[in-house]
Amino acid sequence: MLAKEVRQRYIDFFVNKHGHKQIAGASLIPENDPTVLFTTAGMHPLVPYLLGEKHPAGKRLVNHQKCVRTDDIDEVGDICHLTFFEMLGNWSLGDYFKKEAIEMSFDFLTCPADKGGLGLDSANLCVSCFEGDKDAPKDDEAAAVWESLGFKRHTKGKPLNGGQIWFYAKKDNWWGPAGQTGPCGPDTEMFYDTGKPKCPLCDTKGPSCECRKYIEIWNDVFMQYNKNDDGSFSPLKQQNVDTGLGLERVVALLQGVKSPFETELFKDAIDKIYELAGIKGTDETAISVRIIADHLRAAVFILGDKFGVAPSNTDQGYILRRLIRRAIRHGKKLGIAYNFTDRIALIYIDFYKDVYPELEEFHEKIITELQNEEEKFMKTLIHGEKEFEKMLPNLLKNKEKILPGRLAFKLFDTYGFPIEMTEELAKENGLKTDKQGYIDAYKKHQELSRCGAEQKFAGGLADHSEATTKLHTATHLLHKALIMVLGDHVAQKGSNITVDRLRFDFSHPDKMTDEQLKKVENIVNEQIKRALEIKCEEMTVSEAKEKGAIGLFESKYGDRVKVYTVGDFSMEICGGPHVQNTSELKSFKILKEQSSSSGIRRIKAVIG
Ligand code: ALA
Repeated sequence: MLAKEVRQRYIDFFVNKHGHKQIAGASLIPENDPTVLFTTAGMHPLVPYLLGEKHPAGKRLVNHQKCVRTDDIDEVGDICHLTFFEMLGNWSLGDYFKKEAIEMSFDFLTCPADKGGLGLDSANLCVSCFEGDKDAPKDDEAAAVWESLGFKRHTKGKPLNGGQIWFYAKKDNWWGPAGQTGPCGPDTEMFYDTGKPKCPLCDTKGPSCECRKYIEIWNDVFMQYNKNDDGSFSPLKQQNVDTGLGLERVVALLQGVKSPFETELFKDAIDKIYELAGIKGTDETAISVRIIADHLRAAVFILGDKFGVAPSNTDQGYILRRLIRRAIRHGKKLGIAYNFTDRIALIYIDFYKDVYPELEEFHEKIITELQNEEEKFMKTLIHGEKEFEKMLPNLLKNKEKILPGRLAFKLFDTYGFPIEMTEELAKENGLKTDKQGYIDAYKKHQELSRCGAEQKFAGGLADHSEATTKLHTATHLLHKALIMVLGDHVAQKGSNITVDRLRFDFSHPDKMTDEQLKKVENIVNEQIKRALEIKCEEMTVSEAKEKGAIGLFESKYGDRVKVYTVGDFSMEICGGPHVQNTSELKSFKILKEQSSSSGIRRIKAVIG
């Protein structure tokens, strides 16, 4: 059975046999939900309805939903983890509950193919139920339904076999909320025997054993609780059912192959990857091939979405960038010598465009963005790998064999190496990466960026490239110099920085004389020559005032602010970022002094 057919069968089964309405899948980039980056499950766009709002299509819904999950991105490359996948889902919004939901699932899985089901053998199915804890009781109700369908409760100490019911804790048998808070509940999961021999742990761990003798294919969640802000659970207004069947996994099962990568969903893309690399498949190359195939498929769907994003350094754009770059690196590893991501993308667009016409609609964007990103990354990849090789001998000398976080951050910041790529590269060379150190360095950088973004609104700082950062520091020097030459009435009224020049507006009633301008210029140049260090401290607004800091005191009392000190010369409340030493500015020149508005003067100046 091909994926196309499974998808359609699922919809037909729930629509025709059980009175569900098919609803359109939602965008992969969630609308109005800043708590998650991607739609991770079919229930995601349905949260308001699970909470009790009326859905226009009724109480029984079904669809297929594009999903992206990046929490186990490192596991992609094994045989069953995918970044992008399709979820087949059916919902009861306060309508049927455990009994019907389980019976429908069982029927769809085991009903013969000529009667609209998948025709799977129930003897190969195992299920799990929630074992209960302080938040919710043991799910005997769900287990009883399974018993009525011929399943038997597993007894501790007895071997794992098909047809059993296992009980697991919250970690395994509870689903949701999708974000921090929201609808969730105990679930019952369905596993199918792959036919692999048991590992030594299977009899103790049951169908969820990591050896994956059994693979999870379907999850029926009984959404009857809301997780609150304080972490507690309260009953929802209505009892809902939310289910999710992983299309790719079930298709692989039905086709009797080991993984989704061996199905028609990936076949053409994978053949192409091998062709471009000019190699034949081996166990070693297979991992890289799977990573490329998975990541580029996800990239195609992220780019080709109605709210599609482009690669960037934040949020969804950054995940996208990581996916593309990791795929590229693995492409190089396989020996693909030229740009290739667009070619793989074309295969996916073509394959999926009937079901997801948006891919065709955004065809050009998908291809162009991939080409641009590949171009961009290839420029730095080689330099970055060289830089890494330079670091390597020293790193291998240290006993712990650790790649420090700050170096991992440098590879990210300077060469655009996503962290997991650095980790991989390090691992290939026998090193462990200090990920926490990387995260710390990253956070510090983000903090600076955040301040930069705040400053954008306050002062018109458009970015924080090296050039604008220097001009920003120059603005502080200018501000202080103006106060020294003209008097204490001088206060900042506006600031705008481009990569080429600074523009500073300040209160002063008269046109400045040439002599005053020269004096100001000289003072600033003197501070540049003195090579003053710039320091940043956090304090409350009142502490900053007490210390004599200048700048905008608009924050609420008690708020902590950043105060930048330039040697002994100036102290100013500001979000940053700044250079470390005034000598980096080289020199300072005022281009123009003019009126900005009544009582406000404007100076444009350059450095270097
Ligand atoms: N929302 C449930 C899941 O993703 C069905 O497993």
